[in-house]
This record gives sequence, C-alpha cells and structure tokens, in this order.
Amino acid sequence: MLDQKKTVISGIRATGKLHLGNYLGVMRNFANLSLDETKRCYFFVANLHTITTNIDPQSIRHDLREIVLDYISVGVDPERAVIFAQSSVPETSELMWILNCFTTVAELERMPHFKEKRGKLEEKEIVNSGLLTYPILMAADILGPNADLVPVGEDQHPHVELTRSLAKRFNNIFGKTFVIPDILSSEVVRVPGLDGTAKMGKSDKNTIDLSDSPDIVSQKVFKSVTDIRRKRRSDPGDPTCCNIYTMHTIMSNGDEIRYVHDNCRSAGIGCIDCKEILIQNINNILFPIQQKRFELTRQGYEFVDEILHEGGIVARNKIAPKVEEVKEKIGVPSY
Ligand code: TRP
Repeated sequence: MLDQKKTVISGIRATGKLHLGNYLGVMRNFANLSLDETKRCYFFVANLHTITTNIDPQSIRHDLREIVLDYISVGVDPERAVIFAQSSVPETSELMWILNCFTTVAELERMPHFKEKRGKLEEKEIVNSGLLTYPILMAADILGPNADLVPVGEDQHPHVELTRSLAKRFNNIFGKTFVIPDILSSEVVRVPGLDGTAKMGKSDKNTIDLSDSPDIVSQKVFKSVTDIRRKRRSDPGDPTCCNIYTMHTIMSNGDEIRYVHDNCRSAGIGCIDCKEILIQNINNILFPIQQKRFELTRQGYEFVDEILHEGGIVARNKIAPKVEEVKEKIGVPSY
C-alpha cells in the first residue's frame, strides 16, 4: 500500500547548546509535527555540515548526542519520528556529488549564508569549499528522502529555494525523479538577542540556552540591553526599540504584554520590573524541557545511541533507493 503520509525532513547542525531562539523558532514546531498523524517526520543532526566550521571530533560526537537529547526533551516523539545522524547515510553524500554537477558556482556565491560566513571568519582562516557547497549537501538531505515539506527558519529559505531549482533542473532533463519540496513555514518567530541585536544566535553569545538554570536566566536577562535612550527609571521608554519587549510579545500573555508596554511608555515601571516578568515566563518555558532532559540523562547515552542506530537504518532504507535511481538515470549505477 502506498504511504499517504507527507514526508517531513529537517536537520540541526551539531554545534553546542541549543537556545531559546532555536526552540521557539523551529524545534517547538518539530515536536508538534512529530505528533501529526498525517506526516512522517525525519529529523536529523547535520554532523557533516558541522565540519564546515568545526573539526573537533570529540565535540562533534558529544554535540550530536546532546542534540538528540534536545530533540526528545522539547517533545519530538522518538517512537513516531525518525531521528538520525546525517553521517549514517553515506548515500546522501553521493547524491550531493551528483547535485554539485548541476549547480553553478554563481548560485552558491549568491547564498546569503555563504556571504555572511565568509565575512565573519577570521582573516587567517581558510574559506573551505565546504562552506560554499553547504547548500548542495542540504539539497541532497532533502531530495534523497523525497521530502514534501521542510520546516526551517527564515534564514534557511534560500537553501530550500535552491533545492527546488535543482530538483526541477534534474527532472527537466531526466524525467520526474525528485519531489519538489515546499517550505513549511509556521508563524515566523524570531527571538532577538540579549545584546540588542535582531537575532539570538550562538556565535553572537547573546543567547538563553535551553539548559540555563533560573539563576543564569536572571543574570543574563538583568544584564541585557533595553531601550538605550531610557537612562533613568523616571524616563519614559520606547518598547518598540527594546528587545526585552519583543521577547515579551513572544513569551508573555496578552495582559502582561499590554502592562509592560503601557507602563514602559509612562515610566510606571522600570526595566527591572519588566525583566522580572520576562524571567518568570522564560523559566516556565524551560522548566518542563529541563525536567524531561534530566530524566533522559539518567538513562545514559546508550539509549541515545540506540535511537541513532535504529533511525540510521530506517533513514538509509528510505534514501538509498532514490540515490540508486538517480545514478541509474545519469548512467553511473553501482556495478
Ligand atoms: N542548514 C541547516 C541549518 O543550519 C541544517 C540543515 C542541514 C537542514 N540539512 C538540512 C535543514 C536539510 C533542513 C533540511 O539550520
């Protein structure tokens, strides 16, 4: 019988701790998708993507398992979703090579991600070609399992667009081979950084991590940047240029949002009062995730390894036949 469920795929790079921006941006959505009966979800850890910027074997191994624990702690159900490591499916890298030959260098150089990464790297560091071809590996991740839907944050949309172009290009020459995937955009939640910048991001060190204790959350939020023109408690503030207010709009309830908005403008409350409410709400979000993680960690890493092993087999069984089909079509089958 044909499987009528939509195939959903998404990945997260194995680089250190996940933060509130990751959770509210995409991971919370992964959890809901994994419970949706009409979808079959494949969530993986993109450990091959990690080596574009980090080649420390120990930390890659460690971060991979931590991310699996994060997936489950935020509510991805491992009984329903396939959780696997990108490196468990060698056929994906093979498909990437083939897709490489259908991609122009100009297309890759245009990717905002590449421009940004290249800009950020220290001058001495090598711009390795993996940074440039990163989106092609991502295209292979998506096209290999015939994904219908790709839930990703806004920053990844150009990569999925490239994936769609590559799939169409291939299908035009060799006949219908790839499903053209759609971006699954949930309501876009972009959590701003604690340093006043527009986005919470690991490399900017402006995050609240999912593992932060209530004390750390308080410290970080109290130190964070607010409306810089509000110097004294008696000065009225402008919530529209305050990241803490933006965070309220994401994490607080309607009454609280109105309260802090109005009382900031009228100097009815100070930044500390406003932050205290936010801190409580952040901790309320983090608490159940941390509880779950604590329970899982007690079971040790063997349980994580088992999930990765089983998931790797299922994912490979799904992806390998597609890659063989592609190789057949372009005249380079396995002999
Ligand atoms: N590039 C994505 C990120 O940095 C991770 C990723 C790799 C991915 N392959 C993917 C996401 C395939 C969705 C589908 O967040």
